[in-house]
Amino acid sequence: MAKILCTGIAALDIINEVKYYPDEDDEIRIAAQEKRRGGNATNSAVVLSQLGHQCFWAGTLVNEMDSRIILADLEHYQINYDYCQFLDGGKIPTSYITLSQDTGSRTICHYRDLPEYTFAAFKKIKLQEFDWLHFEGRNIAQTQQMMLWCKQQYPDIPISVEIEKPRDLINKLFQAADILLFSEQYARAQAAASAETFCQLINSQYPDKTIICAWGDSGAGAAFKQQYYWQSAQKIKAVDTLAAGDVFNAGIIDQQIKQIPIKKCLEFACQLAGKKCTQKGIAGLATE
Ligand code: FRU
Repeated sequence: MAKILCTGIAALDIINEVKYYPDEDDEIRIAAQEKRRGGNATNSAVVLSQLGHQCFWAGTLVNEMDSRIILADLEHYQINYDYCQFLDGGKIPTSYITLSQDTGSRTICHYRDLPEYTFAAFKKIKLQEFDWLHFEGRNIAQTQQMMLWCKQQYPDIPISVEIEKPRDLINKLFQAADILLFSEQYARAQAAASAETFCQLINSQYPDKTIICAWGDSGAGAAFKQQYYWQSAQKIKAVDTLAAGDVFNAGIIDQQIKQIPIKKCLEFACQLAGKKCTQKGIAGLATE
């Protein structure tokens, strides 16, 4: 069991299940609706907690009704949120999600009006207690300072960073990370046609880092010390792909903590993400 700090966001997910994804300007009925805690960093923390790790979350929250769902879920998974900043103004980030029963696709419209976590708050964390530090690739200027600070102060604690969305200057986060967790969306935005070309390109620029790149329902690739690895995903009928990437990342972090060889890390993470896609939500993923 490792002590892991995940820095990033929690959100309220309002999930509208529909039979099929509508056309623009359509009017359709929602088959089912659910509200759940979401947010990449907290999603990964919840899965890591299921895998037996002791997880902490650093991020921002507001004192309002919608925080309750988030806090209740974090408490359920024993995720410590003592390092969070509780702000007086703003709104809990809210995702309005259209989940298609037909394909399992999730279309996210995200609303946020909440300041991000600050480097000043992060500096107060007792980092020496942690075995692993994971960052969501957002809030770039502040996150970059946090990561550089960690590397400077505690160079032996491994750092992973999720690079999912092609945000401005997000490549500033590469340098201080040991493990880079890329999405297909990001790789394609860099004009990469496959996980292999992308992983190899990044690994040639950062030879001492582990490069991971998930490739949707095809599988995932990795490059480490100029060697390339690939794991195909199992064929499944997807019912809910929401947070599959966050689950995949948690799988990789868990296996890296356990110092499992890279090919096996990919195998485990693909399996876990595949299992997630066959069920709604991210509960019970660690059970057989
Ligand atoms: C899934 C997710 C949702 C959240 C959204 C934020 O990866 O974390 O739970 O609402 O993305 O971008």
